[in-house]
Amino acid sequence: MSLDSSKSGPETKTAHESAVRLSETWSCQTLANLMNHVVESHHVFCRREVARLGLLFMEVIKKHENTHPELKRLQALFFKLSNELSSHLLKEEQTLFPYIARVEGAVARKEPVSWPPFGTVENPIRMMVLEHDQTDGDLKAINKLSDDYTPPSGACASYTALYDGLRAFEQDMREHIHFENDLLFPRAIAMEEEACVRRKQTGA
Ligand SMILES: [Fe+2]
Ligand SMILES: [Fe+2]
Repeated sequence: MSLDSSKSGPETKTAHESAVRLSETWSCQTLANLMNHVVESHHVFCRREVARLGLLFMEVIKKHENTHPELKRLQALFFKLSNELSSHLLKEEQTLFPYIARVEGAVARKEPVSWPPFGTVENPIRMMVLEHDQTDGDLKAINKLSDDYTPPSGACASYTALYDGLRAFEQDMREHIHFENDLLFPRAIAMEEEACVRRKQTGA
């Protein structure tokens, strides 16, 4: 989670350029709009696909379990990831995002900010970033076990649809994490710091 480009290397450079592009594209938008975008696009997609792919897994396993025992391990990995994501999305929607929106509203109205029970926004953000790292590890494990979502030769339409769905799921999850880690969270931290400095100056 960083816009820091001090580390060199092509991957870091590409990630940095991507973060800068993201920041430029969304620079005029409020944090409330950024969070609406995350929920309405990525969270909705994630929940819908978890349900759909869960059903598809059952169908494919029923047909191919005997010849492809790795499907069960893949399903277990996806089930673990789905459970972790279910709680992660709720923490963002019920605690972190409403707090960020409240601070942004108070800053815009030049009102004092009431401080949250978790101290500073950096604390829940640190937890969310750790959970994103966990998701990254789960996605890599699923990718590896499915041989980069390559169905076996002669795979049926459901098998191919499952692997296509898992590939799209990983892609969307990576965009989702990138958006939060490299755009939303740094802006939320900067905004809270600004509110904090103003509070000290005004004594509010
Ligand atoms: Fe999210
Ligand atoms: Fe997240």
